[in-house]
Amino acid sequence: MSDGRDQWKSKIGFILAAAGSAIGLGAVWKLPYVAGTSGGGAFFLIFLVFTLVLGTSLLLAEFVVGRKTQKPPIQAYKELAPGSVWHWLGVLGIISSCLILSFYSVVGGWIITYFVRSLTGSLTNPATGDYGSLFDSVISNHWEVGIAHLIFIIITILIVQGGIQKGIERASSIMMPALFIIFIVLVIRSLTLDGAMEGVTFFLQPDLSNVDGETILFALGQAFFSLSLGVSIMVTYSSYLGKQENLIRSASSIVSLSILIALLSGLAIFPGVFAFGLEPNDGPSLIFTVLPAVFSEMAFGSIFLSLFLLLLLFATLTSAFSLLEIVVSSTAKNNPKRRRIAAWIGGLSIFIIGIPSNLSYGLLSEWHLFGDIFFNQIDFLVSNILLPVGAFFISVFVPMKISRQDLKEELLRGSKLGTGFFETWLVVIRYITPLAILAAFLNVLGVW
Ligand code: PHE
Repeated sequence: MSDGRDQWKSKIGFILAAAGSAIGLGAVWKLPYVAGTSGGGAFFLIFLVFTLVLGTSLLLAEFVVGRKTQKPPIQAYKELAPGSVWHWLGVLGIISSCLILSFYSVVGGWIITYFVRSLTGSLTNPATGDYGSLFDSVISNHWEVGIAHLIFIIITILIVQGGIQKGIERASSIMMPALFIIFIVLVIRSLTLDGAMEGVTFFLQPDLSNVDGETILFALGQAFFSLSLGVSIMVTYSSYLGKQENLIRSASSIVSLSILIALLSGLAIFPGVFAFGLEPNDGPSLIFTVLPAVFSEMAFGSIFLSLFLLLLLFATLTSAFSLLEIVVSSTAKNNPKRRRIAAWIGGLSIFIIGIPSNLSYGLLSEWHLFGDIFFNQIDFLVSNILLPVGAFFISVFVPMKISRQDLKEELLRGSKLGTGFFETWLVVIRYITPLAILAAFLNVLGVW
């Protein structure tokens, strides 16, 4: 490109990286525990509907903004709505990304800790016995989890400071397919455990009598979280995308991949939960107690567990790259030296913000903020408030500030889909998305 900005080497590079941002702890760690605490099958069904309808439309909307302007979010919103306050939407995205990464990196650190411990085979050793308290014993080792947290952030910084292509693209194209394969092995093992079907029923059979306002808001937050929406990350990634690429095809690949991983992860976790008599409403520690139990029932279980954790670590890192990338690309533009400085200052500050989240499961477990531990409150604030708020304003911005003609041209370029698809998308983004988000908020506030 004439201004020397990096571009994706190939379309598949972009899809893999955007899918790499989407697929991570959201589907593998967060979805099972939120589903476990919010009604199982009913939650999953509502999550699916939100993902397919609102998620896909918003993903396309963020793509349109990024590809049209070829700029990172703040500059992109400025260009489309000069002299207005809309660029604050980009600032909101950066703040939300920092907060997400602050607890995301804590869980990334737990995965590193589990990976290192799995290498000795001790996690899957039947002598470990009580898998339920395994997590507590690992997590109470403050130095170990603290250092792992720091290592996770440093890896993220090192990759992001290297620039968009070399780092992110290369890493995602090998790790994602590998993760997928080992997930299938895991699901097969889970589904053949004694008592597995109870878990499948819990996860897939919707019992709508369990649904309340919170279930709906949580499902909405989960849908945005697991597609990396509402924080303008997809604006950032698509700003590196060539003009000729087909946005609709890219969006559908990303949404389908992300739903597939969410499904696989539910089918891997819940049969295990019920087969081992664990509790589905265990919260953020859920996968850390269930996975070792399931792998311990497998031939070469400890090797498979290590491999799984390693690949999950890569999936987590590709999401973390995107969270730091939005901070770096917004502050450093394309100057390599400034990129390096921004990556280090941003990354280390986010690490510091994450320390109370990390200690929430140990030293600070008694410290409650508005009735819950710090970790859960930050997660709640970001996933169920900031992401839906960001998504709301993006869905208002796009049809208001980009002309119908431009939207149509940008969205349909390279695609065989016609006006019918465009009109439907426009209705969803202009009316259905903002109204659904508003309704979900008002519902939780008990307005009706
Ligand atoms: N989508 C990522 C995941 O599911 C998390 C994420 C959320 C990343 C928002 C970027 C922005 O793990």
